Amino acid sequence: MSENQQIIGRDDINDLEAILAVTNDDADELIHAVHDNAEAIFTWDYEKGARPALNRLYEKAKGSQWNGETDLPWDTDVDQVAVTIANAETMGGIIGFGNDASVIVGTPFEKFGLEDWLKVGIETQNWTLSQFLHGEQGALLCTAKIVETVPWVDAKYYAATQVMDEARHVEVFAKYLDEKLSGHYPINPHLKLLLDDIVADSRWDMTYLGMQIMVEGLALAAFGFMQQITTEPLLKQLLRYVMSDEARHVAFGVLSLKEYYAGLTDAEMRDRQEFAFEAAVRMRDRFLQQEVWEKMGLSAKEVLPLVMASPQRTMFQSMLFSKIVPNCKKLGLLDANGGWLRQRFTELGVIQFEDNPDTGEEYDMFQLAAGETSG
Ligand SMILES: [Fe+2]
Ligand SMILES: [Fe+2]
Repeated sequence: MSENQQIIGRDDINDLEAILAVTNDDADELIHAVHDNAEAIFTWDYEKGARPALNRLYEKAKGSQWNGETDLPWDTDVDQVAVTIANAETMGGIIGFGNDASVIVGTPFEKFGLEDWLKVGIETQNWTLSQFLHGEQGALLCTAKIVETVPWVDAKYYAATQVMDEARHVEVFAKYLDEKLSGHYPINPHLKLLLDDIVADSRWDMTYLGMQIMVEGLALAAFGFMQQITTEPLLKQLLRYVMSDEARHVAFGVLSLKEYYAGLTDAEMRDRQEFAFEAAVRMRDRFLQQEVWEKMGLSAKEVLPLVMASPQRTMFQSMLFSKIVPNCKKLGLLDANGGWLRQRFTELGVIQFEDNPDTGEEYDMFQLAAGETSG
């Protein structure tokens, strides 16, 4: 069995048929149970500040709480058509084909009129915010799990503040979807697969690696991108607040794992490298938003090669990894075992971010200034 087959369940990372064969088998269920294999760990070492970097994060978190109900301008009217048009203007054309109609001649998009493109834009908003919502719930569960499983008291304290942050994120994304957008999507099957894997793993550091480094690292980049391009003031403010928390969360992962990974064997590091690679592939697959194309009455298999080939899409997709790659480098994951993960990130086309600042260093610049919230 090939290495790729073992790690991601297919030989070719771009095998579209295999990607689309992953489906959400309980999209109609109200709850989804995952067996959590980890032990809950008590520690009798209560010395606060034994890990100063984590203690600093904890103190910062206590003073950085905001209230999703009262600090955001929920009375803002959101016009999804206007938002779609404004986004398309910033992005140089809907879904990145630019305004040059010749690239879609002879493709299923040829028959698309303005109404159809507006519908794609609206469905993309509904889909994107729905996946953010589900990802936030994943973070809520994972961080509650870290409170139980991490052996250090400073980390338990910090993780407890993150549980509160994530509850607030789930709350505000759910409210935004309900009150301002026009539809919900169930969890994307690739995201679901990843979250299930993270929750099921018995090793405490894998929760951090999957959630704080990979999922939240990607979220920080994606929120930043959307926060910059959107002209919708409520979403802009909401994302600004959420990002100020997410930067701390990613820093929590980097600062915790740095110590732990310095003491691992090559074989143990290889397990972590493979897990990071698997997570990267799952997240790239999820951003193909296969459900939106299907909702538009298109065959995902037919249109995805076109979507994947568009230059703006390629740039957007690689940008999603701009936080993950330097953080993996900081943890020693890129270069362990002869640079195994470096090679994989090169194949995914994201290695160019390796020398960006890591989030353990730069999280402060995301913090809210005094007076930025009303609460
Ligand atoms: Fe979050
Ligand atoms: Fe988070």
